[in-house]
Amino acid sequence: MESAKNKLRKLIPQKILYLYYLHTARKACDYDLQRRVHDKVYNDSEAEKVKRDLTLAYHIVEKGLTMPVPRPGFGKPVVLNLINTVLKFQKLNLPLDEMEFRQSVSVLKEYKDFHEQISFQLDKEVVEKLGYLEDLFERIEGLKQIKVSRDEYFSDINKPFDLFCRSRYSVRNYTSQEIPLPVLYDCIELAQKSPSFCNRQPNRVHIVKSAEKKTQILEIQNGNRGFGHLAETLLVISSVISTTKDIHERNENHLNGGLFIMTLLNALHFNRIGACSLNWSVSNDKDMKLREILNIPKNEVLLMIVSCGYVPDVFSIASSPRKSAREITTEHL
Ligand SMILES: Cc1cc2nc3c(=O)[nH]c(=O)nc-3n(C[C@H](O)[C@H](O)[C@H](O)COP(=O)(O)O)c2cc1C
Repeated sequence: MESAKNKLRKLIPQKILYLYYLHTARKACDYDLQRRVHDKVYNDSEAEKVKRDLTLAYHIVEKGLTMPVPRPGFGKPVVLNLINTVLKFQKLNLPLDEMEFRQSVSVLKEYKDFHEQISFQLDKEVVEKLGYLEDLFERIEGLKQIKVSRDEYFSDINKPFDLFCRSRYSVRNYTSQEIPLPVLYDCIELAQKSPSFCNRQPNRVHIVKSAEKKTQILEIQNGNRGFGHLAETLLVISSVISTTKDIHERNENHLNGGLFIMTLLNALHFNRIGACSLNWSVSNDKDMKLREILNIPKNEVLLMIVSCGYVPDVFSIASSPRKSAREITTEHL
């Protein structure tokens, strides 16, 4: 028996229904959007913003240092910007033991050392500023980038969960060795064990091995320079909109996707495959372009790309240190 609600729905012209849902969706989304815009304009928590800027910049430099082939003199504008942000942090009298600050200073020292080791003459301005900074923060140490062999990197994959979990890093260096499809399906099968809202399992995976398609995709993604071209496989993760019931579930595609992707990353690691998340925070036209390349329907939200490949004998990984549990936790006892 068809419900009364469904019968009524059929009597209303689709255009009216569309406008009605659009209106309720806009009202719900406005709540999110207004808080975002408010934060952008009125939040003058200088400390949070300066820490964000430090992280964005030091991360680019740590990535540059760990590229398969680091480019001598890379990232001059980012390095200068990072130096200025470090000095701004100090000027604001913020605590110098904050993780973001320590790591920024440490990465800048590593940048200087790296160029000294390969006898590459950096720009005069950069050398002077790096020297000044090194003297000023002589005792500040962060985590150095890591060089590992393949066996060292995967040595904890069969160990207890805590060791396994700590052993995964984003890997940005791959060989051309083919990852067999059955291995990828095993990883996706494990990722499927991730929880999902009412077990609705909204996630979808698009396996991309075609060289032409990989190039087209990586061209419009903004975080894979220097290593993306080595990826043997790209996994494009999406999520089906029609698994959500109403607008209040609008974040579920991303939320469920995040849980799924984390298990997928662990599954790849468990299978001795190097992987790196690639953001899909893009403009509408890029989003449409990716749909076109892979023929992905409108009702899938594109969430993220994962670049994958077997790893070389020896490679470098960005240390990407974490804040402690205490720093990010509030107790309500
Ligand atoms: C949503 C998301 C987007 C990311 N996008 C990129 C990216 O575009 N390029 C990249 O090299 N790394 C990217 N990463 C990887 C992060 O830089 C990395 O996870 C972080 O620095 C922590 O390091 P770890 O994965 O080695 O623990 C992304 C990670 C996440 C979760």
